[in-house]
Amino acid sequence: MWKRSKGISWVDVFLLRKINKFVKAEIEQHRQNLDHKNPRDYIDCYLNELQMTDHSDLSELGLEMSIMDLFQAGTETTSTTLRWAILYMVNNPNIQKKVQQEIDDVLGFDRLPQYEDRMRMPYCEATVLEVQEWQPLHQLVCNIVQRKTRC
Ligand code: HEM
Repeated sequence: MWKRSKGISWVDVFLLRKINKFVKAEIEQHRQNLDHKNPRDYIDCYLNELQMTDHSDLSELGLEMSIMDLFQAGTETTSTTLRWAILYMVNNPNIQKKVQQEIDDVLGFDRLPQYEDRMRMPYCEATVLEVQEWQPLHQLVCNIVQRKTRC
C-alpha cells in the first residue's frame, strides 16, 4: 500500500511500512486477547464496535489508518514542541528556575504529574503556552487554522 510518490521519499516509505507493520501486529495481538466487557484502549474499543455493531463506515483498514494518523499527527508535533521548550529554557534560565520551583512545590519529589495538577500550576501552564506561541510550528498552525476557518 505504501508506495513512493511525489513529495514522499524512500525513507518515508520505509518508515511508513515499518510503522504499518507494527500497527498490524498490535491490532492482531489485541484481537487475540480482546475482552469485550473490559476494553483497554482505543484498539479494543474499535474492535468491539466492529464486531458487535453494524457500522458500514468502520473497517479494519479504517482502524489501521486512524492509528497511523495518530502516530504521524502526534510524534513530530510533540517532539518539535519539546525541543523548542528545551531551547526556551536554555535561553531563559530565570524562567526555568521558576518552572522548576513550581514543579517541586506542587508535585514534590515522589510522584508523577496528574491532569488535575494542571490547575495548580499556572506558571508552567503559561510557559507551555509561551513556548507554543514562540516556536515556528505555531506560525504553521495559525496559517492552517486561519485558512480552514476563513469564510
Ligand atoms: C504540540 C503538539 C501538537 C500540535 C502543535 C498539534 C497541532 C495540530 C494542528 C495544527 C492540527 C490541525 C487542526 C486543523 O486542521 O484544524 C492538528 C490536528 C490533529 N492532531 Fe495534533 N498537534 C499536536 C499533538 C497531537 C497529538 C499528540 C496527537 C495524537 C496522539 C494529535 C492528533 C491530531 C489529529 C488526529 C488531528 C486531526 C484532527 C481532525 O482532523 O479533526 N496531535 N494538530
